[in-house]
Formats: sequence, C-alpha cells, structure tokens
Amino acid sequence: MKVKAAVAHSAKQPLSIEMVDLEGPKEGEVLVEIKATGVCHTDAYTLSGADPEGLFPTILGHEGAGIVVEVGSGVKSLQKGDRVIPLYVPECRHCKFCLSGKTNLCQAIRETQGKGVMPDGTSRFSLDGKMLHHYMGTSTFANYTVVPEIALAKIREDAPLEKVCLLGCGITTGIGAVINTAKVQVGDNVVVFGLGGVGLSVIQGAKLAGANMIIGVDINPNKKALGKKLGMTNFVNPKEIEGDLVPYLVNLTNGGADFSFECIGNVNIMRQALECCHKGWGTCVIVGVAGAGEEISTRPFQLVTGRTWKGTAFGGTKGRRDLPKIVDWYMEGKINIDDLITEFMPIEDINKAFELMHEGKSIRSVVIF
Ligand code: APR
Ligand code: ZN
Repeated sequence: MKVKAAVAHSAKQPLSIEMVDLEGPKEGEVLVEIKATGVCHTDAYTLSGADPEGLFPTILGHEGAGIVVEVGSGVKSLQKGDRVIPLYVPECRHCKFCLSGKTNLCQAIRETQGKGVMPDGTSRFSLDGKMLHHYMGTSTFANYTVVPEIALAKIREDAPLEKVCLLGCGITTGIGAVINTAKVQVGDNVVVFGLGGVGLSVIQGAKLAGANMIIGVDINPNKKALGKKLGMTNFVNPKEIEGDLVPYLVNLTNGGADFSFECIGNVNIMRQALECCHKGWGTCVIVGVAGAGEEISTRPFQLVTGRTWKGTAFGGTKGRRDLPKIVDWYMEGKINIDDLITEFMPIEDINKAFELMHEGKSIRSVVIF
C-alpha cells in the first residue's frame, strides 16, 4: 500500500514528505495506522548524523500511537481495531532478559532492530523500489507502519491518541525512572537536573511517589512555572546562585539528595548529580543520553562513601505490562500530559518541530495525521 511518510534521506537534511510503499505484516507482525506521534531528541540526534547506529534512508519516529489495521499470521494478543502504542523497547516475555524479572531490556529483536529491519531481516518500507530502513522498530513518522507484536502495548479505547502518544518515550521514561528504577519512597528528597519533557515527568513521578523536596535545576528560568505546576517544590538556576552548585544542593537538602536524576545528557552534570547525593545512601539515576564516546568521571571516594550511580532506559518500563496502567493514570488525572505539549502540527510541518526543539522553545510537538 501507499502511505504518507516523512523520509530522512540522509543525515542533516530536512525530512521530505513522500508517498512510500509499505508491505503488509508478515508472521508475528502488525500493521498499525499511526494517528499521532511526538518528535523527540533521539530523532533529532539520529538525523544530525551523530548517532553511530544511524542508518539512512529511513523513516524516523518512536513516540506514536495508533490503531491496529491488520495482523500477520501467529499474532494472538492483538486484533483489528485495538489501540496501541509502539515500543522501542519490546517485551517478548520469553528471552533471558524478560524472564529475569530484573530489567526491561528485552533482547528478542535487538539485533535486527538496530539494523533498521524487521525480525526476519527485511524492511516493509520502500521508495521507488529502494529499501527504506525502519527506525527503533517503530517508524512512527508515517501514517501506517508495521511493528512486531511484541513491540506493541495495547491500551484502552477511550484514550486520546494525540496525547498518550507521548507515553511512547519521554514521559514514561521520566515517571518510570522514579517508580521503577529509583523506587523513590514517601518523604525522600529529590533533585532533577534538566526540566524538559523528561525532567518534568520525573517531577510528576516524584510527586506521585510522595517525595518531600522536589528540586528542579535548569539554566532556563522559563521552566520554573510548569515545574511548580507539576509538583516541583524548589527551583534552582545554576546561573543565579552564589558559589558552586553541588554544595548549594547538599545544603538545601540538609545533607544531600536521596535521589537525583540527570535528564540532560551532559556528562559534567552527571558528575554533579552524583555528588549532590546524600553520603551513605544517595542514588543518582542517569536518564539523559550523552553523545557517542563521552565518558563520566568522579572521585571513587564518592562511591566508597555510599553513593550509587545507576541508569535507566525507557524508565525501566515493561511496555506491554505497564503502559495500560500509565494510560489509566492519565485518564484519571494523576499525571499531566497536556501541559507538556507545546504544539500540534500536520506531518507536512514536521521540520518545524525539529526547529522548535533546537531553539529550546518547545517541550513536545505532536504531529497529528
Ligand atoms: N544545567 C541545567 N539545565 C540544563 C543544562 C545545564 N547545563 N543544559 C541544558 N539544560 C536544560 C535545558 O534548559 C532544558 O530545559 O535541560 C533541559 C533539557 O530538556 P530537553 O532538551 O527538552 O530534553 P528532554 O526531551 O527532556 O530529554 C532530556 O533525555 O531522552 C534523553 O536524549 C534526551 O538526553 C536527552 C534527555
Ligand atoms: Zn524479551
């Protein structure tokens, strides 16, 4: 079939809107009509050419939501008409990782997903007979896409897809980092570095978990108002304080954070995030993605004296198990998605979403098909 897609022909080029060919779902695959998709930094990172795993030409996008149109042979858990969120971290429930109960990093289709193809090693997308790569196993910058069954979370029918699409990445990452990875307890003091879509969602998660102080750190003063609305108790602008940030935060929390979250992807801030943690037990969770080849450092004494460095991908979320529940939280008013959407636009304007992101003006732009 012919579908409308934003094609990334090569790095550093604007996306071009084209009618491309999409083959139907093969065994274990599902054809999904994408109704809405967020535009995320990871898409921009790959498009910039800095992603060593980036493959072109491709159809980017991994923060989508849609409706099942057709299922391939052997698909049992989904049927036509189901509402779904594609998962760049799948959940096969059979691999060593899934069965461990210790991680969300299902490895069932990791290799082919990284190569931009379906689990059978081929692509469903093409343009003028030339293969287009899938991206993160999702390729949501197209009004139809094919996704493996194990990479689709089925959600309730009444959820607005133009909102809950954002649960496919940033918002779930932030909330999950708090609930699944840190396991923040009632009364904990939390410091969040970087108040973009991810950091603001860490704030929401910390509020849900019953944290005491929720301190947001950002160099952009415009982030203060929304942070407060979502549950932030204190805002710290590193440019406005006297002295160094780490002792300032240790003092503010009366000894250090129980948990800190780095939601920027800056290795220098990752060090500050660890060092502002409480001696003896404070834990720093790395959520932001640093550039390829970058390294983190600290004095080992920071760890000897009881601080812990951890990391999380997709907030430790098992998508098929957890996303229906997070959608419920949104529908019940427990989490806020609406205020994180700064722009809606048609696919024809998708390049504007990248511009707004680079200018730091948007939190999330949502493309509606
Ligand atoms: N100190 C404090 N805040 C900073 C700094 C800094 N040195 N540098 C940037 N920031 C703030 C920005 O002002 C912005 O508010 O960090 C925030 C980052 O937000 P976004 O750019 O909107 O990013 P977001 O979508 O939240 O993702 C954050 O997670 O998924 C990854 O790749 C993504 O690494 C990125 C991170
Ligand atoms: Zn698995």
